[in-house]
Amino acid sequence: MEITNSSKIQAEGGSTYDRISELKAFDDSKTGVKGLVDSGAAKVPRIFIDEQYEPGDKSGSGGCKFTIPIIDFQGIDKDPSLRCEIVGKVGNACEKWGFLQVINHGIPLNILEEMIDGIRRFHEQDTEVKKELYSRDETRAAVYHSNFDLYRAPVANWRDTLSCRMVPLPANSDELPTVCRDILIDYCDEIRKVGVTVFGLISEALGLNSNHLKEMGCAGGLNFVGHYYPACPEPELTLGLSKHTDSAFITVLLQDQTGGLQVLHQDQWVDVNPVPGALIVNIGDMLQLISNDKFKSVYHRVLAKNVGPRISVACVFRAQGKHSRLYGPIKELLSEENPPVYRETTENDYLKIKFMHPKPEGFNGTSALEHFKL
Ligand code: OGA
Ligand code: NI
Repeated sequence: MEITNSSKIQAEGGSTYDRISELKAFDDSKTGVKGLVDSGAAKVPRIFIDEQYEPGDKSGSGGCKFTIPIIDFQGIDKDPSLRCEIVGKVGNACEKWGFLQVINHGIPLNILEEMIDGIRRFHEQDTEVKKELYSRDETRAAVYHSNFDLYRAPVANWRDTLSCRMVPLPANSDELPTVCRDILIDYCDEIRKVGVTVFGLISEALGLNSNHLKEMGCAGGLNFVGHYYPACPEPELTLGLSKHTDSAFITVLLQDQTGGLQVLHQDQWVDVNPVPGALIVNIGDMLQLISNDKFKSVYHRVLAKNVGPRISVACVFRAQGKHSRLYGPIKELLSEENPPVYRETTENDYLKIKFMHPKPEGFNGTSALEHFKL
């Protein structure tokens, strides 16, 4: 595929099409991928076709020898030697995998189930009500759209998303969608507690005081995204979510039992198998930066499937506000043997490079972190 000045796309076989017009028509429908499926689409429209995607490529499915570490938080605040052991496991997972699954994190199962259900209700509610929230206006506290990067990314993904800014809480909670407002607030309260626990463990794993990352403001902001991946008629042609790293400090992810999330580990795509009641934690670019490359922000993706919908909920812990403080490698971690790898940046400047650079760094295979190397 080749993009020309007129935005005409050279598709395989030599035919051309006006990609921008097709993206716009899709966006203007305000009904997302679910709208396509509801209208009976038996084929994947070409804006979603990923020419780079080779389903069997580096696939770890089936006989894969790797599994993501599963860490049990039971007793973490009661038994110091157990805590020490858990800190070791968390540190190891953050270094080697950038991903881990947590069980016994303290959030009751019914809250997790109700959250997944709330996201299902949101996406399956009356189309006319849902359309009112369809927007790309980042100043709004709650919006719904398909593909936040629709016009920037080389290919669209088979997914719709409800996106809410939960901390600082919108001044008026009426801005949150009615069908899932209560569970959204309760779930995010619980997730903040888990986030603080995880930042405590990560701080300790870095050899720092338990409060260090919290005091740096790493949990100062919380964005909530509720994804809905409809069943796909041609799952070998597109992805639910293209290969990417997360930008902020950590993401805490809840997935339903459908499966499809994969992590790139030692050059193999490894399935993150659903574990009932578990939460997935992964390291984002900003944490890789402040840990001076000790902890890794790892590529991951979501396959499209011919079953569905798949529902997942990602809570992104980030700095508070657009004009956040400067973040650089944590001084206490640096030494003559471990000099700083990165220069300081605000989270916002980092995001600009990652997503708003003319050639979005988040999508061409190299990490935007490269831009901040000293
Ligand atoms: C994300 C993400 C995975 C999923 O939102 O950044 O990686 O399972 N989501 O939806
Ligand atoms: Ni992600």
